[in-house]
Amino acid sequence: MKEMEKNQRFTITSALPYTNGPIHIGHLAGAYLPADIYARYKRLCENDVAFICGSDEHGVAISIKAKQEGNSIKSVIDKYHNLIKETFESFGISFDNYARTSDSIHHETSKDFFKKLDKKGLFEIKTTKQLYDENENQFLADRYVVGECPKCGHKHAYGDQCENCGASLSPNDLINPKSRLSGSKPILKETKHWYLPLGNYEQFLTEWILKGKKDLWKSNVYGQVKSWIGQGLESRAISRDLDWGIPIPRDDAKGKVMYVWFDAPIGYISSTKEWAKRNNKNWEDYWKKPDTRLIHFIGKDNIVFHCIIFPSILKAHGEFILPDNVPANEFLNLEGEKISTSKNWAIWLHEYLQDFENMQDSLRYTLTVNCPENKDNDFTWKDFQSRNNNELVAILGNYINRVFVLTEKYFDNVVPEYEKIDSDQLLKIYNYVSSISNSLDKFKFRDSVNQLIDLARTGNKYLAEKEPWKLYKENNISKVEQILYISLETCALLSILSEPFIPNSAKKIREIFNIKLIPWTKLSSEKKIIEPGNKIKKSNLIFRKIEDDEIQNQLNKLNLNIKN
Ligand code: 2FM
Ligand code: ZN
Repeated sequence: MKEMEKNQRFTITSALPYTNGPIHIGHLAGAYLPADIYARYKRLCENDVAFICGSDEHGVAISIKAKQEGNSIKSVIDKYHNLIKETFESFGISFDNYARTSDSIHHETSKDFFKKLDKKGLFEIKTTKQLYDENENQFLADRYVVGECPKCGHKHAYGDQCENCGASLSPNDLINPKSRLSGSKPILKETKHWYLPLGNYEQFLTEWILKGKKDLWKSNVYGQVKSWIGQGLESRAISRDLDWGIPIPRDDAKGKVMYVWFDAPIGYISSTKEWAKRNNKNWEDYWKKPDTRLIHFIGKDNIVFHCIIFPSILKAHGEFILPDNVPANEFLNLEGEKISTSKNWAIWLHEYLQDFENMQDSLRYTLTVNCPENKDNDFTWKDFQSRNNNELVAILGNYINRVFVLTEKYFDNVVPEYEKIDSDQLLKIYNYVSSISNSLDKFKFRDSVNQLIDLARTGNKYLAEKEPWKLYKENNISKVEQILYISLETCALLSILSEPFIPNSAKKIREIFNIKLIPWTKLSSEKKIIEPGNKIKKSNLIFRKIEDDEIQNQLNKLNLNIKN
């Protein structure tokens, strides 16, 4: 078996969600669940892990939400920060810290970054004409303006991005722009801004990513970066004329704040600082030591920010490490359609929790099996039901229950002593330790969770072939002991290997078989997990079947008219 890597320092981040609404399954599948599985796995291998996230509380999207709700910005960010944080906790997303970009530690950290780059003379200052709403006396940054997309003709593109074709835009690119504040046609007015001249970083990015990461990064990520660099990188304004955001720390920048995408990724650093302070750690170890591995988990719409803009900022600063990997995922669709917040075409996680109480692991499992790793993927309620009923219940749950029942019946709930171990079967089940961890190391989450279920399948098959019930009738007790012992060891292994994927259920399985969670690095077919003489105990069912009417209710909720 390949030695598992341990004692390695990891900084693992998940994209900071905007606090302008609740989160849905697409978010979970793209940036949070894979990161959580990876962080849990790396901790289980005795590594030093800081798993970092927080709320992204600046930006125009949030001011707009506050206007729509008729509430103050503060009440909007408080409401959604709390809701999102609770949702993550309910789903067992094991962040070491969940911060907020409105916290003062983040404002200070972002200002320090700006000042450092400013002092080095790394910004361009330019005066240009930008869209201005005369009724509201305000410049129309990013999402404050809508119009026709110059790339695809979509009529409702935003000033920063077209959600139809994904093009990254600036407000002046829009055809027939309209202010979202007053509905009026904006005029052009001069204003001064600070720009990051990305063209100056092309060579560095080419050396670092295009030459250095070709076979190491996922091809979807590498391909996007290559295409961006190939088109030539233009300077990007990192300041905005807004009243919500982090003020630009310069006397000649009154009324200007940082662009949300300048401060948001710095949020990873300020969140790490907050965590380090609370835990008596040195945050700099996690951001400046060259042997630290920095991994950003994101969705594909964030690739340019995490692979081009933020690394350029880190490089410009000069003291920071760069991401080792950015395993971005593609998008998860819902019932064949793109998830859309505005059309309410989504499964909101806080609603799922109400409808499927204590069934977080069923969704975790389904979203991992369907993780949009290399291409967009689809979530359907029917598939969710069938994955839950045919895999979690019928394979994994059924296997655990069978082994429990046989041990209860033949050995009065005590793990039997055995004369001779079935070493072929023992090696077979222990092979899963290295194959699952190899897949996780390559960010192949679908593969790894499929192997987990396959281990339960292997256990079931072994029982079916060995038929211990027949041997018991023939009074061949020592053979029954041998079979049951290895089956109990398989359940024990399942309870430890399933921990990153379905942590609540993994814990329940460990409770039945009375075993502790041990590091994967200590798993070995020579040592074994389960001890003869251990008492095992019954528990409630680990997984439950999902009925057709529950699925129909969800489809009705989505206004779908799917027959059967
Ligand atoms: O796309 C988003 O939802 C952003 N709020 C992600 C920010 S990631 C990081 F840079 F903070
Ligand atoms: Zn478009």
